[in-house]
Amino acid sequence: MKQNTIICRCEEITEKEIIKVIEQGYHSLDEIKRLLRCGMGHCQGRSCTMIIARILSQKTGQPMSKIKITTSRPPLKPISIKVLSEYKSHEE
Ligand code: FES
Repeated sequence: MKQNTIICRCEEITEKEIIKVIEQGYHSLDEIKRLLRCGMGHCQGRSCTMIIARILSQKTGQPMSKIKITTSRPPLKPISIKVLSEYKSHEE
């Protein structure tokens, strides 16, 4: 993979930027996410998190099984307006 390859498409973060923060000593996905905003875009990291984890694993020698996946915030998946319009609250 070339270092100018965009890894996080939502936030336009390249592999080079990710490697730079890893080399600065940030060795967790949460740290990388907070520094670069990768994983905070529209897809909420569904496209990029595992790629970043793989880069982190390769650069630090940590096995993939030891890399803690980042905290996700709801909503985890987009839902349609139709689902929302048909939602009935328990308070009604
Ligand atoms: S590709 Fe990284 S948050 Fe969507």
